[in-house]
Amino acid sequence: MNKFTNIKKAKNMSQSFWQETNRLGLIGIEVNYQDDGMMLDQNQHEFINMCSYSYLGLDGHPDIIKGAVEAIIKAKTLNSTISRVRVCLEMLSDTEAALSKFYQCEALTVSTCAAASCALLPLLASGALTKEVAPLMIFDKHAHFSINLMKPICADETDIESAPHNDLNFVEDLCKKNKLVAYVADGVYSTGGHAPVKDLMYLQDKYGLILYFDEAHSISAYGKNGIGFVLDEMGGNLNEKTFIVASLNKAFGASGGLILMHKTIDKDIVLRYGGPLSWSQRVNTPGLGAIMASLKIHQSPELAIRQKQLTNNIQYFDSLTSSPYKDDKLAIRFVGIDSEEKTMAASKAAYEAGFYTSPLFFPIVPRGKSGLRVMLRSDLSEKAIKRFCDVINRFTKSEKEGK
Ligand SMILES: Cc1ncc(COP(=O)(O)O)c(C=O)c1O
Repeated sequence: MNKFTNIKKAKNMSQSFWQETNRLGLIGIEVNYQDDGMMLDQNQHEFINMCSYSYLGLDGHPDIIKGAVEAIIKAKTLNSTISRVRVCLEMLSDTEAALSKFYQCEALTVSTCAAASCALLPLLASGALTKEVAPLMIFDKHAHFSINLMKPICADETDIESAPHNDLNFVEDLCKKNKLVAYVADGVYSTGGHAPVKDLMYLQDKYGLILYFDEAHSISAYGKNGIGFVLDEMGGNLNEKTFIVASLNKAFGASGGLILMHKTIDKDIVLRYGGPLSWSQRVNTPGLGAIMASLKIHQSPELAIRQKQLTNNIQYFDSLTSSPYKDDKLAIRFVGIDSEEKTMAASKAAYEAGFYTSPLFFPIVPRGKSGLRVMLRSDLSEKAIKRFCDVINRFTKSEKEGK
């Protein structure tokens, strides 16, 4: 028992912090969007969300909203109420064909990014995607919760290992000792940093290493036309030994999860045996309309303009603060604060000043490494970033000065 997950332990260790965060009113916030992008909470307090996943500000884009509305009217239904393996809306096939063309590989949609990992990881573990050879699976220690949840299931199909974060020697060592190895990681990590994709590609070339990346925080925000960090590092081509899952609900500005795989992977096997892919829920018709509208934006000059605005905001934030992954050009920043109590006080002060930012602590980040997670966006003004940094720097500065 508890060889790969220990939810009871994690819950017991973190519960008091969640309770404290709740007491301070930093979770359970109910909001309405205002016309100017601000949020209004249940106490009529207006604030800017500094932890939005909408890195390019596409979530409220008029074309995407219009695409969603028009699609549901055209489809005459919110969803098809039968497994897609049996009967599938033409709109779903058309959307996946457009995504496949855009990413130049096989693209499948699924209800969420977590459902994409739930569909794909057990199949990968079984050997069904690798000519019936079950690979040894290495999970990066910092891989997302939705990936870690699948460890016990994968372990029932093959041998699995947990690797220290981004430890290439660990991976290479196991490549030398095993016939086939798969490495599972986030492309861009939700608490900052990224996978060493180029080095992993070297191991792929040398040992035939299978690579599985969660690009939830990267698709659209990075790369030419928003192909994402991993595909960009790979020169835009997804090879037959690499799998990507992503969220279409974050920078992409639509809804659902995405699976990207090489055209040679048997799509029918994935659809028939990929659990949530073939059950009753999938991206609904407004979601499909939103995806198509967002794809058009991805193929227009607007995407690069938004990416540039994002980069400018990241650089401006970095010029005002100090964080471990400074200069990596990624939108997620983790501002370390020396204690959980102070982290919460900083988050509370920011909220009172009109900014929401998540306090993070164990088990989301390692014990003793608490801090604030900040997610930068293209549609934040420099004035807002400066005001926000002035508030949080009060807490990080006093830490440095030993106050
Ligand atoms: C890295 C990563 N992967 C997967 C998910 C889950 O995404 P979804 O909500 O689309 O299932 C998240 C959640 O935000 C995430 O941060």
